[in-house]
Amino acid sequence: MSEISPGLENVYIKYTALTYIDGEKGIMRYRGYDINELAEKSTFEKVSYLMLFGELPDSKELINFNDSINRNLRLDGYLKTILKNMPENADALGLLQTLLSAKASSEINYKYSADNDSKKVPEILGNVLSMVANICRIKTGRDIIDPEPLNDYSSTFLHACFDSFTKDQADAMNSALILYMDHEIPASTTAALVTASTLSDMYSSLASAVTALRGPLHGGAAEGAYRQFQEIGSPGNVEKWFNENIVNGKKRLVGFGHRVYRTYDPRLKTFKKYAEMLSVTPEQKNILEIAKKLEMLGVEKFGKKGIYTNTDFYSGIVFNALGFPVDMFTTLFGLSRVTGILAHIMEYVETQERLIRPRAIYNGKDYREYKE
Ligand code: CMC
Repeated sequence: MSEISPGLENVYIKYTALTYIDGEKGIMRYRGYDINELAEKSTFEKVSYLMLFGELPDSKELINFNDSINRNLRLDGYLKTILKNMPENADALGLLQTLLSAKASSEINYKYSADNDSKKVPEILGNVLSMVANICRIKTGRDIIDPEPLNDYSSTFLHACFDSFTKDQADAMNSALILYMDHEIPASTTAALVTASTLSDMYSSLASAVTALRGPLHGGAAEGAYRQFQEIGSPGNVEKWFNENIVNGKKRLVGFGHRVYRTYDPRLKTFKKYAEMLSVTPEQKNILEIAKKLEMLGVEKFGKKGIYTNTDFYSGIVFNALGFPVDMFTTLFGLSRVTGILAHIMEYVETQERLIRPRAIYNGKDYREYKE
């Protein structure tokens, strides 16, 4: 047996009552509730409350929670100035990282406690909605605004991004926010936990998470999968592209494979449903057809190794149909994941706090005398 665990594979660093994953059977639940049932029937606010505080809210708790989020939709003046002054080609996730770090600069004295955390989290949910909506506005040539609260989080967000939206789009956004809300402790949540374990504040911990989310092996996969479909170009080119790039081992199939799942990612079902429902233009239908053909070839080739389609394969198609530019996809993943990351931080710091400080086995040179 290896003395180290590369990639921290099969290393457990906390107990959690948040997300249950059975990677063999393709089951995922938030606090016991099936993920697709929540995504189809519930709302982002209710599920956020469930994750953060343990149970679904009653009507009074829900109203208070929504009010606390909505009181925090205004973007601070200095964040607006930063956004306006960032280079035009700054990428969306880099902008989110910058705004979170700027916010962290006034959090130095933050003290974790159940009481403080339950006030801080809705503040952050409101703030991040505003940050991401305004990043989207900048990226699509619009002006910076203070979002106006509508009936629910996903409608407020879509309205802030695009000024108008349909009921199907709001439903899809709501489901996407729930499906991506938490996934136990992937790289980004672990990065946030490492930071929070030093008792650094929540905004700094979120900034750490966002930096880890960036890479193509993790949060960048939805964008990668979508760009892969664009590169293929037409359904007629799927097989040729697959043989030349994947069968030959030149590239990894993006949107396939997972550290935990050995079967289909359970979140795929609802994303695929919305991808089919919302792909209406010839270009969207073309991309969807490419994706379906590619998925078939991927499962045929890799299924026997336990490598199946993951959630990022279809989520980009949904985000595109909602009107988001491709370089917003990872940032949307980030927006959805804020609740899960904060719930893990609360669970860890409030009940299991211990500085995360692993070791490395030294295998370098023995003692050498320094000679001038
Ligand atoms: N395409 C081709 N081969 C693959 C793929 C893939 N997508 N995924 C895994 N493999 C192969 C890999 O080459 C290796 O083969 P061999 O044993 O012959 O060397 C074997 O499967 C095991 O791969 P691994 O990299 O050791 O497994 P891992 O647990 O580190 O991989 C992963 C997880 C997500 C990094 C990987 O599956 C991957 O690179 N996928 C493509 C990127 C992607 O879709 N990422 C999104 C992940 S889900 C959402 C999220 O967490 O953000």
